Amino acid sequence: MILVLTHINTIFLSLSIFQPASSQADHIATLTNYFIVAAAFILLVVTGLLIYVILRFKAKPGDAEPRQVRRNKKVEAVMIGVPFLMVAGFFIYTINVMQEVHPPAGNQVPDVIVTGHQWWWEASYPGTGAVTANEIHLPVHKKVLLQFSSSDVIHDWWVPELGPKMDMMPGRKTHLWLTINEPGVYEGACSEFCGEQHAWMRIRVVAQRQDEYERWLQQKSQPAQEPQHPLALKGEAIFNLATCGNCHTIRGTAAQGQSGPDLTHFASRTEMLAGMMPTTEDNLRDWLTDPQQVKPGAHMPRFIFEQDSINALVAYISGLK
Ligand code: CUA
Repeated sequence: MILVLTHINTIFLSLSIFQPASSQADHIATLTNYFIVAAAFILLVVTGLLIYVILRFKAKPGDAEPRQVRRNKKVEAVMIGVPFLMVAGFFIYTINVMQEVHPPAGNQVPDVIVTGHQWWWEASYPGTGAVTANEIHLPVHKKVLLQFSSSDVIHDWWVPELGPKMDMMPGRKTHLWLTINEPGVYEGACSEFCGEQHAWMRIRVVAQRQDEYERWLQQKSQPAQEPQHPLALKGEAIFNLATCGNCHTIRGTAAQGQSGPDLTHFASRTEMLAGMMPTTEDNLRDWLTDPQQVKPGAHMPRFIFEQDSINALVAYISGLK
């Protein structure tokens, strides 16, 4: 429990739009800061004037009715002109930022196609064969195009440090440009309520230098490693026998299912179940023993495995680096 809470804590601490880490997020953060400054200025002026008027013109016993002033052109011009100029200025600036952040995607092939599922993220890299889940690698200093859609209900991509939110809708494609400034790990979460495990639909973007990213992509486009250890080999046989391959793909094997996460390089991802827990053999064992206990509502059914079979499956799957 404490482990899970610390985990949640570290995620929330890093979710801030005030630490922009992409050029798109920079634009949004600057606009937000100007808005906050303008709003604070208005708040100060209005409350300041109010307090001044209350103190200065407080009624005293025996006061006559004060002089009534109607139609002061100067005051009216300032009261209409200043808000008008502020709104107009922000309107133009906002349009500018929107153009910086959301240029039309046209027919360009995206660098990554992200598909939302209940309750995990699928990322495929067109032209490379690489498919992964939840942990999405991107290069830094390069303007990359992400394409989004959903396989079931509406989800919403949001990695606050990297810029805007983007809805993911079944049957529709949406796009986002990202130019990440620095290598690092950026956390995000699904931001549209999408069912029971919406809260456990975390995104982890790993931004890497171009050469590291290409090495990663090259590695992830390879088929799965052949199991060597006898226990892992037994696990592979059980995996196929138990029809795991109807939902999961392990490239290079008969498992070609599409509804669950691609497991070809499962063990190289640091977290499992969309950021719910670190990828460890113990967590994998718990998950295989009773998925509904670990993540209630998840589409993975409970298989009644013997303990030996679970150990073999864990040996096989945790070897998929
Ligand atoms: Cu997916 Cu909320």
